[in-house]
Amino acid sequence: PNTNRSFSERTLVAVKPDGVQRRLIGQVIERFERRGFRLVGLKMVQVSEELLAQHYVNLHKKPFYPSVLRYMTSGPVVAMVWEGHNVIKSTRTLVGHTNPAEAAPGTLRGDFSVHVGRNIVHASDSPEVAQKEISLWFQRSELIDWVCCDHAIMY
Ligand code: TYD
Repeated sequence: PNTNRSFSERTLVAVKPDGVQRRLIGQVIERFERRGFRLVGLKMVQVSEELLAQHYVNLHKKPFYPSVLRYMTSGPVVAMVWEGHNVIKSTRTLVGHTNPAEAAPGTLRGDFSVHVGRNIVHASDSPEVAQKEISLWFQRSELIDWVCCDHAIMY
């Protein structure tokens, strides 16, 4: 079987509370599956302020940080880890600009949101951040390194 994944990277994607409440989980997953990325971790979590403080460590001094905390703890979040070639950059393109008003149509934020404070989805923005966020949100044992059937030995 071809298990050479040296060209692959992994990224953290999270459907934020508004995305969950608006029943958009499936639409988010659909975009990544149809692109050809591989889901290696998935869970629903009620996020703690402690986790968010580490997740948004660069935003603590921003005036909007308290509202981000309220928003992100207002309901469950669906966290995922996606794997594939250039997945970090491709995911940012799929998700669209942070401010939905500047997000292109066809992107998740451009198609489903209007306000920066309710932009439905999170995605890591660099390899360093992806690595940090994946280990913050997921235990190693929660990431499943499955092999696609067309690469597997068929009996
Ligand atoms: P940021 O890391 O700049 O963007 P992104 O999520 O695209 O990586 O900001 C983190 C989140 O903070 C952003 O998704 C929504 C929120 N936010 C605001 O509420 N107001 C703002 O003016 C900005 C820049 C971000």
